[in-house]
Amino acid sequence: MDTITLNSPEDMYDLGKRLASELRGGEVLALYGGMGSGKTHFVKGLARGLGYTGEVTSPTFTLIHEYDGGRLPLYHLDLYRLEEPDAVSRLGVEDYFGGPGVTAVEWADRAEPLLPGLTWRLHFSSPSESRRTVTSIPARH
Ligand SMILES: Nc1ncnc2c1ncn2[C@@H]1O[C@H](COP(=O)(O)OP(=O)(O)OP(=O)(O)O)[C@@H](O)[C@H]1O
Ligand SMILES: [Mg+2]
Repeated sequence: MDTITLNSPEDMYDLGKRLASELRGGEVLALYGGMGSGKTHFVKGLARGLGYTGEVTSPTFTLIHEYDGGRLPLYHLDLYRLEEPDAVSRLGVEDYFGGPGVTAVEWADRAEPLLPGLTWRLHFSSPSESRRTVTSIPARH
């Protein structure tokens, strides 16, 4: 298990950007962690690293944003508002998993039973005002 410490929002953005180069398509990135722990900042970097040049904002109310035009399509989900497992299922999240794009899911605990076996799990936390940590949990099989 690896933990990375990020000392600024820019560091978090760079982490996403660097990680993007590892992606080949079809990956699901499950992002866990409380409000303000840096999940959206990470996805902003991810989108930029994939070559997407448009704006990346939190899909808190729209639930899903799709960013096309980069090396791979990126699907950005924020399931915070979906407390019921049925609501997550109705949203059709499974259509994104296993597709040709990359799917990044904020508040992924809401979709836990639906996540594919090969999911990259990243736990975000905020040990202080300006510091964040990201811990990767190995995929379950
Ligand atoms: N080291 C850091 N890395 C990332 N963000 C940081 C850091 N230090 C401070 N911040 C601040 O923390 C906040 C992170 O916000 P962000 O929207 O990325 O969180 P989030 O995990 O997506 O929250 P939510 O669950 O509400 O969607 C921003 O206001 C950012 O400026
Ligand atoms: Mg967010």
